[in-house]
Amino acid sequence: MTFRAKHLLGIEHLAPDEITTLLDLADQYVDLNRRDVKHSDTLAGLTQINMFFENSTRTQASFEIAGKRLGADVMNMAMQASSVKKGETLIDTALTLNAMHPDLLVVRHPHSGAVDLLAQKVNCAVLNAGDGRHEHPTQALLDALTIRRAKGRLHRLSIAICGDIAHSRVARSNILLLGKMENRVRLIGPPTLMPSGMEEFGVEVFEDMREGLKDVDVVMMLRLQKERMDGGFIPSEREYYHRYGLDPEKLSYAKSDAIIMHPGPMNRGVEIDGVLADDINRSVIQEQVEMGVAVRMAAMELLVRTRREAAQEQGVMV
Ligand code: CP
Repeated sequence: MTFRAKHLLGIEHLAPDEITTLLDLADQYVDLNRRDVKHSDTLAGLTQINMFFENSTRTQASFEIAGKRLGADVMNMAMQASSVKKGETLIDTALTLNAMHPDLLVVRHPHSGAVDLLAQKVNCAVLNAGDGRHEHPTQALLDALTIRRAKGRLHRLSIAICGDIAHSRVARSNILLLGKMENRVRLIGPPTLMPSGMEEFGVEVFEDMREGLKDVDVVMMLRLQKERMDGGFIPSEREYYHRYGLDPEKLSYAKSDAIIMHPGPMNRGVEIDGVLADDINRSVIQEQVEMGVAVRMAAMELLVRTRREAAQEQGVMV
């Protein structure tokens, strides 16, 4: 096994062999998750706390399901009903929970870097479930597993990431992961939603959707993140759809077997045509959701294993 990370804070910190180890284990969990009985006792006796300071459907549900299928005791903190509402800080909240000896903390937070900071204050493994515009590592890993299963490989593919790059932690984590695995990444979007200097990450930048989609293997659409916009980034949603919404005509520029991805939640008719999103011959959006559970099971197992091995080396009983 090749996995050395003690936390999963970002793709930035993972080496290609660690990514492959995690995806290989996740493949095994896909098989388990398709059985009638989906239980394993890998995390039996361990405590997992999920702290979501931002809304979530897919990530929170799949981390909860992942922990329960591995036998952990899982608690979802209701952040809206917590003492955070009385002014308690993130760090004080984390230290309070840390005193209850959790083994895994899953954290989503609106501020970039907040999860890294928290990881420095607690004794357990921390998993970043999305921090501001920074990273969403398990999303990139589940996207990678979906691509690898659909295309039979995760290298030398041409992958277009389209839309609101500027506000997207999904884009950032995917750019890092796909680059580490030696793929060709193209970013497509209007200049207002494209951070400057992206070429430094080894990607190609396109303003024209048709030019950018030419002959790609994978089309990854991004949600227009209206909640992170404080100005006029687009003329109108109608105009945005006309220029950057994925429809059959624009998709025809990609390879004929190109797959369509979207991390969700989708704005149908804004960044993607609803019929295309549901086209089971092209869209792998539901597979992405399925892979999310398996990837999160694999991530939690590997973090626990790393910590157990480190403790054994130090002669500590765990
Ligand atoms: N893709 C994603 O992070 O979705 P949620 O916000 O529903 O968790």
